[in-house]
Amino acid sequence: MKRRKVIIDCDPGVDDGVMLALASAHQDQLEILGITTVCGNQDIDKVSRNALSLSDFFGIEAPVAKGMDRPVVREPEYAPETHGEDGIGGCVLPETQRTESRENGILFMQRILKELEKEEKASIIATGPLTNVALLLRIFPETADKIREIVFMGGSLSGGNVTDAAEFNFYEDPEAARMVLQSGVPLVMCGLDVTEKCTLTRKQILKMCQWGSPAAKLCGDMLGYCLENSSEKYRGEVSVHDAVPVMYLLHPEIFEGGHKILDVDCSEGAARGAVLGGFRWWKNEAEDTNVYVLTDVDKDKFQEYLITSLYELAQ
Ligand code: RIB
Ligand code: CA
Repeated sequence: MKRRKVIIDCDPGVDDGVMLALASAHQDQLEILGITTVCGNQDIDKVSRNALSLSDFFGIEAPVAKGMDRPVVREPEYAPETHGEDGIGGCVLPETQRTESRENGILFMQRILKELEKEEKASIIATGPLTNVALLLRIFPETADKIREIVFMGGSLSGGNVTDAAEFNFYEDPEAARMVLQSGVPLVMCGLDVTEKCTLTRKQILKMCQWGSPAAKLCGDMLGYCLENSSEKYRGEVSVHDAVPVMYLLHPEIFEGGHKILDVDCSEGAARGAVLGGFRWWKNEAEDTNVYVLTDVDKDKFQEYLITSLYELAQ
């Protein structure tokens, strides 16, 4: 079967790290053309160093290119309370000999898309603020024709995790989120509505650490940091938000959703980063509903597929 070509844009980040492990375990189905990094959970240098070390450790050979070091308009706000000062929960990875591409991440994505064969397209998996993706589409609008779809973790129709209104990636760069939502490119939104159901329990995380698989242990240790230090400690399970876009590409059948027309609150107020979208369907044509919003998941299947993938990830 022909592999799906993907570009991964991320801000590792504990759950970005688990996403990379999941993607690596399925390189028989996903042809990872490149990884770009974006300021989000931590500063661009930290998330880029993490992307290099994690991709090396998990066996992803695709090049890594550094993207934007700040949101389109706003000042960066990091998330050390969830991901630690280093971005990966203090986990120590073997020193990598790999270095990031000298090419700017946005130019890197544009070149990869431009170099695709005439009929080929690539999917973009985005698990950080949408800064790089938004600027790619704004600076190089012709790349939209080479993008099969953008499957992103971000937003929420049912309340936020960084404020009552906003999910972190949309809060961090609401202008970028609006630019992508209004780009006309086919989108799959993996917002908190579904990712908050895509969790691993304390027991499952502990088991992962005991399997003897270095890859699974690293994922268990990173998730364990979230479990002990973030607000997840009150729940006793961890949402693996960023694994959802990859899981959707691998197993769309375990998800439910619907098409919507969405906007983002770009104000400075309490609603900054909130997703706006409703029921004024009569106001828009069917083709305008370019966002497929995931709203539900078979949680047992999600856990089974994620755990199995991490277990089988050869090390
Ligand atoms: O709200 C969850 C998102 O914010 C995830 O992508 C996580 O890595 C953080 O970036
Ligand atoms: Ca992320």
